[in-house]
Amino acid sequence: MVVEKDIASRIEELKKEKNAVILAHYYQTSDIQDIADFIGDSLALSQEAAETEADIIVFAGVKFMAETAKILSPEKKVIIPDMLAGCSLADSCRREDFAKFISDNPGRTVVTYVNTTADIKALSDIACTSSNARQIIESLPEDEKIIFGPDRNLGNYIKSLTGRDILVWDGACHVHEEFSLEAILKLKRENSDAKIIAHPECEMPVRLVADYIGSTSGLLSFVKKDKGKTFIVATEPGIIYQMKKARPEKIFIPAPPKDSTCGCSECNFMKLITLEKIYKSLKFEEPEIIVDPLIAKQALIPIRRMLDISAKLGL
Ligand code: 13P
Ligand code: SF4
Repeated sequence: MVVEKDIASRIEELKKEKNAVILAHYYQTSDIQDIADFIGDSLALSQEAAETEADIIVFAGVKFMAETAKILSPEKKVIIPDMLAGCSLADSCRREDFAKFISDNPGRTVVTYVNTTADIKALSDIACTSSNARQIIESLPEDEKIIFGPDRNLGNYIKSLTGRDILVWDGACHVHEEFSLEAILKLKRENSDAKIIAHPECEMPVRLVADYIGSTSGLLSFVKKDKGKTFIVATEPGIIYQMKKARPEKIFIPAPPKDSTCGCSECNFMKLITLEKIYKSLKFEEPEIIVDPLIAKQALIPIRRMLDISAKLGL
């Protein structure tokens, strides 16, 4: 604990010295959330990355998020404390395969979730996050045919909400597909007043029993406002730290994974980031996120479109 405090204060000094900012996703560990300048979901983090006046952004999250920050702020140095912090969902969509999917289905507007590599964004017309996917799809003309990638669960969920003609890429997040419906229902039987809340990346059977479905920030707002006392939380449990902080009197139960021995409801990529790695990366200003300038130029278009629509809608 003393060592952690020490690192936290040294990070603070370096931040001031270098005019750096630490942006952290809700799935980071609590010690990192505590030292971050800004904590948010994917949408809020990209909005913050576009607006910050810092010279250096240290991204406590996964690589696609840091890449998005670099694309939005190319003049800034963007650092990720561990370059191996990837994403199984982004990995489930390779450029060659996705390019073929698009060319095999011509005439469709390509909407991609931000959980993609920059070269997938470069093939896209418009980006979205779990916070704004529905509104982004609804902002398109009703008869527009759409390709949605890479998350099949979010894609099918949005398709059912909007009734739009959407072809969904068959990708998924290994964390959100790991939640066990049986274990969730057992918890619900044991806590009959509990509300089930789920991220849209969860599989359909889990979504069907959920009282509320939303992005990480949506789930956080829900538990803040809702009158319920107990919540079964079907997303990465890192978010529970902010839920408990906001509503200490409430009870938050992490939804259990299918394999009760694996601890795999935690995102192993997010959890690669540690305070020590943040300190080192800030001190040595590496590893730095570099995006090919041509890819960055193409990828900026769908990200900007998403941010513009979100701003117009007050999201
Ligand atoms: P959010 O859009 O809720 O931040 O989700 C990001 C993510 O990686 C979910 O797995
Ligand atoms: Fe990717 Fe899933 Fe981890 Fe989110 S939780 S970063 S989608 S692997």
